[in-house]
Amino acid sequence: MKIFLDTANLDEIKEANSWGILDGVTTNPTILSREAGKGRFTDILKQICEIVDGPVSGEVIALNAKGMVTEALELSAIHENITIKVPMLPDGLKAVRELSAQGIKTNMTLVFTPSQAILAAKAGATFVSPFIGRLDDISHFGMDIAADIITIYENYGFETEVIIASVRHPLHVVEAGLCGADIVTMPFGVLERIVKHPLTDSGIKRFLEDWEKVQK
Ligand code: E4P
Repeated sequence: MKIFLDTANLDEIKEANSWGILDGVTTNPTILSREAGKGRFTDILKQICEIVDGPVSGEVIALNAKGMVTEALELSAIHENITIKVPMLPDGLKAVRELSAQGIKTNMTLVFTPSQAILAAKAGATFVSPFIGRLDDISHFGMDIAADIITIYENYGFETEVIIASVRHPLHVVEAGLCGADIVTMPFGVLERIVKHPLTDSGIKRFLEDWEKVQK
């Protein structure tokens, strides 16, 4: 399973990268807006690419295919690791098809159903991002949607990789692993919570206390 960080915060990305477990980063306009005042968003994306050795998603804002492709080419020029996030719309599908033909990696975003994911794969998306937490928020079983997408992709040999997105807690990561997701993208806070366990902490404390006794 590949682990991506769903943030544009450079400190968080540097820290997760130093743990040796980071495979990529996803951003969106909301995530980048949280870094307002820290420089141009293109500079932030460039710095992220210089830290992480893997795909870094930057999202287009245009809602028509022509505008999406224009923005995508500008974003791609930032760094070879930039992946273009495109929303699930008819024009988004057109843009993904065009970008895929040009060899530019794409991440079809705001995907909420297996049928949308079929279209993303057929358009040639490199990645598809089902938003699990936002489905859970409205009383749907988000991970069931992701599991169906993975089964359908396996049935037909689609090469599009599934990124479990809108992750809210460590159990989403476990469930993603159980259904065989290629990638999970998560906020830094979720990554920190995965590492922490009270028995790990109390175990370390006891080992150190016992070792102290041996030294006396
Ligand atoms: C993923 O690519 C999205 O940026 C992100 O996971 C959305 O998460 P949210 O629903 O917490 O905003």
